[in-house]
Amino acid sequence: MTTATDLRGHDRVRLGYVGCGMMAQSVHLPNFSSIPGCELVALAEVRQDLGRKVQARYRIPRLYRDHRELAADPQVNAVGLSAAWALQGEIARECLAAGKHVFMEKPMAISVAQGERILAASRETGARLMVGYMKQYDAGNLLVRDTIAGWRATGEAGEVTFARNHGFGGDWTAGIDVRVETSDEPMPPSPTEENLPEWLPSESGRAYVGYLQQYTHNVNLLRFLLDAGNEASVRDVDLDPDGYTGVVILDLDGVRATLETGSLRYHRWDEHTQVYFERGWVHTWAPPLLQRNTVAEVEVYRSDAEGLSGRHTLTRPIPEPRWSWAYRREAEHFIECLRTGQSFASSGEDTLTDVRVFEEIYRRWLSIG
Ligand SMILES: NC(=O)c1ccc[n+]([C@@H]2O[C@H](COP(=O)([O-])OP(=O)(O)OC[C@H]3O[C@@H](n4cnc5c(N)ncnc54)[C@H](O)[C@@H]3O)[C@@H](O)[C@H]2O)c1
Repeated sequence: MTTATDLRGHDRVRLGYVGCGMMAQSVHLPNFSSIPGCELVALAEVRQDLGRKVQARYRIPRLYRDHRELAADPQVNAVGLSAAWALQGEIARECLAAGKHVFMEKPMAISVAQGERILAASRETGARLMVGYMKQYDAGNLLVRDTIAGWRATGEAGEVTFARNHGFGGDWTAGIDVRVETSDEPMPPSPTEENLPEWLPSESGRAYVGYLQQYTHNVNLLRFLLDAGNEASVRDVDLDPDGYTGVVILDLDGVRATLETGSLRYHRWDEHTQVYFERGWVHTWAPPLLQRNTVAEVEVYRSDAEGLSGRHTLTRPIPEPRWSWAYRREAEHFIECLRTGQSFASSGEDTLTDVRVFEEIYRRWLSIG
């Protein structure tokens, strides 16, 4: 157990990155390698040929064979990480236990038990964990959250009456033109079975993880927009036998919220979220995720206190900064928080609630008490 370095006041964070796959190359390495205050000093990749190609591309001084070697490097004081769904939680736990602050891709964990083990490692060494819920850093979503908070504070639009998130997916890559290095080397094994909820029948494991890893973003976003914290529970679940397509009704700090899930061969990204008040709504549409410098679109509807005979307005405010990318702002936030001591918006502690909600959804769907 090594105590983490307090990076408050440091000029720069010396970051090591674990995993050179699709997300690392398309998103995180381009971001972390170009953020002032962040120095990419090391890389870890089990698939060494791939690692060498990516190391050369980004001119990263050191390449390690796995995260353990990287976590033993005293020059590294923080780690970025993207790997398979259950595996990345185990890698994060070991890096936190080695005293490295961690930014990891979602989901943090595939069960509450795994999530708690990860958070215990963070508490023991003081190493901090941020999870990649990039939607929380999207300028459009921040405008929506602030509008909702403002209306609630003044009461000008009445009470919140309902919220919904619709996510059928589609082409999230937006024709990205970043060259991604590949390799025929086999992928390392992922310890999925041992990290699933102990009550989950093994034949449901695959569907559960597929559903959780996709819609953890959407539950997290609803909680974020409604400032619901850990006040989240499941009211009802109606899913198809695929365990993926359907509707879930949540209670988020007293607000009824629906989650509409499914698949669509859509040329863009079919995801939108709407929060209703007695006299208005705020509605937002997500951009295709990998489309750079594009923010969520926002529409605001208000009717005044006179009711249907009064004044009605529909506006499309432009979020600021208007040409910004949620993933880039997420990476900047990680580095800034380490250097200032500010709390992470999407911390590991916060994310544990999402994992709990997904266990509750599947328990209810499978009628397991
Ligand atoms: N935030 C988002 O919008 C978003 C979008 C897509 C994927 N993701 C998340 O990203 C993760 C997947 O990332 P990906 O598609 O880049 O994965 P990937 O499988 O393409 O790459 C992972 C790499 O990590 C390497 N690796 C595994 N164990 C390692 C270890 N112990 N040490 C060093 N290297 C190791 C593998 O060899 C592999 O090359 C998933 O968890 C997924 O949920 C997030």
